[in-house]
Amino acid sequence: MKKMARAPIFMVGILVLCCFSGVTRAEYLKYKDPKQPLNTRINDLLSRMSLEEKIGQMTQIERSVASFEVMKKYYIGSVLSGGGSVPAPQASAETWIDMVNDFQNGSLSTRLGIPMIYGIDAVHGHNNVYRATIFPHNVGLGATRDPALVKRIGAATALEVRATGIPYVFAPCIAVCRDPRWGRCYESYSEDPKIVQAMTEIIPGLQGDLPAGSRKGVPYVAGKKNVAACSKHYVGDGGTTNGVNENNTVTDWHGLLGIHMPGYYTSIIKGVSTVMVSYSSWNGVKMHANGNLVTGFLKNKLRFRGFVISDWEGIDRITSPPHANYSYSIQAGISAGIDMVMVPSNFTEFIDGLTFQVKNKIIPMSRIDDAVRRILRVKFTMGLFEDPLADTSLVNQLGSQEHRELAREAVRRSLVLLKNGEGADAPLLPLPKKAPKILVAGSHADNLGYQCGGWTIQWQGLSGNNLTSGTTILSAIKNTVDPKTKVVYEENPDTDTVKSGKFSYAIVVVGEHPYAETFGDSSNLTIADPGTSTIGNVCGAVKCVVVIISGRPVVIQPYVAVMDAIVAAWLPGTEGQGVADVLFGDYGFTGKLPRTWFKTVDQLPLNVGDPHYDPLFPFGFGLTTAPVKRN
Ligand SMILES: *[C@@H]1O[C@H](CO)[C@@H](O)[C@H](O)[C@H]1NC(C)=O
Ligand SMILES: *[C@@H]1O[C@H](CO)[C@@H](O)[C@H](O)[C@H]1NC(C)=O
Ligand SMILES: *[C@@H]1O[C@H](CO)[C@@H](O)[C@H](O)[C@H]1NC(C)=O
Ligand SMILES: *[C@@H]1O[C@H](CO)[C@@H](O)[C@H](O)[C@H]1NC(C)=O
Ligand SMILES: *[C@@H]1O[C@H](CO)[C@@H](O)[C@H](O)[C@H]1NC(C)=O
Ligand SMILES: *[C@@H]1O[C@H](CO)[C@@H](O)[C@H](O)[C@H]1NC(C)=O
Repeated sequence: MKKMARAPIFMVGILVLCCFSGVTRAEYLKYKDPKQPLNTRINDLLSRMSLEEKIGQMTQIERSVASFEVMKKYYIGSVLSGGGSVPAPQASAETWIDMVNDFQNGSLSTRLGIPMIYGIDAVHGHNNVYRATIFPHNVGLGATRDPALVKRIGAATALEVRATGIPYVFAPCIAVCRDPRWGRCYESYSEDPKIVQAMTEIIPGLQGDLPAGSRKGVPYVAGKKNVAACSKHYVGDGGTTNGVNENNTVTDWHGLLGIHMPGYYTSIIKGVSTVMVSYSSWNGVKMHANGNLVTGFLKNKLRFRGFVISDWEGIDRITSPPHANYSYSIQAGISAGIDMVMVPSNFTEFIDGLTFQVKNKIIPMSRIDDAVRRILRVKFTMGLFEDPLADTSLVNQLGSQEHRELAREAVRRSLVLLKNGEGADAPLLPLPKKAPKILVAGSHADNLGYQCGGWTIQWQGLSGNNLTSGTTILSAIKNTVDPKTKVVYEENPDTDTVKSGKFSYAIVVVGEHPYAETFGDSSNLTIADPGTSTIGNVCGAVKCVVVIISGRPVVIQPYVAVMDAIVAAWLPGTEGQGVADVLFGDYGFTGKLPRTWFKTVDQLPLNVGDPHYDPLFPFGFGLTTAPVKRN
C-alpha cells in the first residue's frame, strides 16, 4: 500500500525532469527507480528485454576485444581482465578508470542502458595492477589462522580494486588443496576445510557486512567502496588425482560434501554474489556440465541467488579436445545452470550459438530468464544502475601506505617457524640486529617477483625487482639491522667465501620460481636451482637461518639437519619488511602450518587425519618466539 502511494509522487518528479530536458513524453521506467523493490525492478527490466539483450547479459568478454562499439552493438553484460591483461603497461588508476568508463558508456548508450560489470582476478590484492599492494597468497593467510585479518585484507583489496573503477573480483579461491603437487595449491587457504570455511570472512571484507536479517543465499554488496565477490572453483578443484590441474576429483558424495563443499555453505550464508565453476570433473563428469551440482545442489538445495559464472573458456573445455563441439559446449554448460559465460574472445560465436539454441527450443527461455534474473539481481543489489561510472575519488587507495602496513602485518603473521636451532644452539631466532658482519644469500633474497609469486602483474608472475613497487627481503634486512652491522649479499657464494667471510650468521632465502595454474603442477616439488647448493655452501660454513619462499611445502628433509633454523614464508607479496620484522624479533613467530609438510613426494597425497600419518612437520605445527623487548 505504502509503495503504491509513493509511486505517483515519484512519477511527477521524473515528469518534470523529462520536460526540462526536452523529452516530449514522460516514461516512468520502474527498473530505474531505486525505491522499487528489487524483484519489481528485475521483473520490469526482464519484461522489456529482447532475446538479444538477454544473451548479451550472459556474455563476458576480455578487455582486449571490448570497446564502446562492441558493448553497444552486442549488449555485452560483462568484461574481464585475464591474468596480466591491462590497458597499458604500468597503467595508472586513472587509465584503468578511463578504459572501464569507456566500455560502460557503450553499455549505457543501449536502448535499456543496462550497465556492464567489469571483473578481475584480485586474488592477493589487486594483483594485475602496477603499484597495488600485493598481499600474501592464500596459503600464507591460512597460516595466520586469523579470519578477522583476512576480512580486513578483503576490505583493503576492495578499495584498491574500486580505485581503478572495477566493481567485481574473481575471489576468493576457496579450494581445499589436498595435494601440493597442484600448481594452484597456494591459492588454497588450507588442506583443512574448516580453515577454508573460516577464511570466507574475506567475503564480508570485499562486499561489506551483510545486514542483519538478510535472507540466506541473496547476494549482497554494500556500496561503492566494496566489490562483488566470487567463490571459486565450484567444486572439488583442489581434490584432483595427483594434483593435476583441471583433472578429475575422485571421491564419493560424502567426501565431496565433507571436504570441498563446506566453503560454499559459508560463502552463501555470507551473501557471496557469484560462484565460478571449476574446470575439473567430479567422478568423470565435467563440473561445467554438471546440472545436478550447479542447478540441483547450488541453486536449488543451497538456495544460492547470485549468478554462476564459467571459468575462462570453461565451456569449451567440456569436450576433449577443448572447443571440439562448441554447440554441444553451449548446450551442456547453459543447461547445467551457468548464467554468465567467460567466453572470452570469440563472443559472436557464443552469442550466435546460444541464440540458435534458444530459437530452436534446445534451451528453454526459462533457463535464459533465470540466468539474466540472477545477473540483474547482482547488478541492482550493488547499486550499479545508480552508480555505473567510476570516479577518481578513490585513486589514492591504490597501494596506499595503510594497505602496505596491513600487508606487512599479514606477512608477519603468516611466517611459520619450523626449526630454531638445536641443543646448545637453540634458540637461534630472533637474530641480533647488532653484529659485525652478516651474510644474506639465495636466489629469493633480492627478488620482488619471486616473493610475490604467480598472479602478480602477469598471470605466471615475474622475476626481478622492477615489476612493481615493494620491499625485497634483502632491503628489509638492511632496513632492520643496526646501522653498524655490515650486510654482505651474495646470491650463491661458495663454501670458501663463506668460511673466510667471518660472518656472525647467515640468512639464506630460497624457494620456488613463480607459477600459476597448470604451469605450476609439479611432481618433484623441489627448491629451484641452485637453492639447495646455496643451503649446503652457506649452512655448512656458518650458522644459518633458511627462509623458504614457496607456494606449498617443498622437499627439505635432506637438508633439515644442516639448516640451523627454518622459516616457511610462503609467497609474502610486496611487503618483505614483514619477514625482517619477525626474524629480528620486533614481533614473535605465531604462524601455524596450514598444510602438512611431507617428508618425500611419494607420501603424497598426505593430509591431516589420514591413517599412517607420518609427516616431516604435521599440520598445525609452528614454533613460537616472543618479541624482543627493546628500549
Ligand atoms: C562516459 O560518459 C560520461 C557521461 O556522458 C562522460 O562524462 C565521460 O567522459 C565518459 N567517459 C569516457 C571514458 O568516455
Ligand atoms: C586427467 O589427466 C590425464 C593425464 O593427463 C588425462 O588423460 C585425462 O583426460 C584428464 N582427465 C580430465 C577429466 O581432465
Ligand atoms: C555436437 O553436439 C551436438 C549436440 O549438441 C550433436 O548433435 C552433434 O552430433 C555433435 N557434433 C559432433 C561433430 O560431435
Ligand atoms: C569465431 O567463431 C566463428 C564461428 O565458429 C569462426 O567462423 C570465426 O573464425 C571465429 N573467429 C575468431 C577470431 O576466431
Ligand atoms: C624490467 O626488467 C626486465 C629485465 O631486465 C626488462 O626486460 C623489462 O623491460 C623491465 N621492465 C620495466 C617496466 O622496466
Ligand atoms: C621438477 O619438475 C619441474 C617441472 O614440474 C622441472 O622443471 C624440474 O626440472 C624438475 N626438477 C628436478 C630436479 O627433476
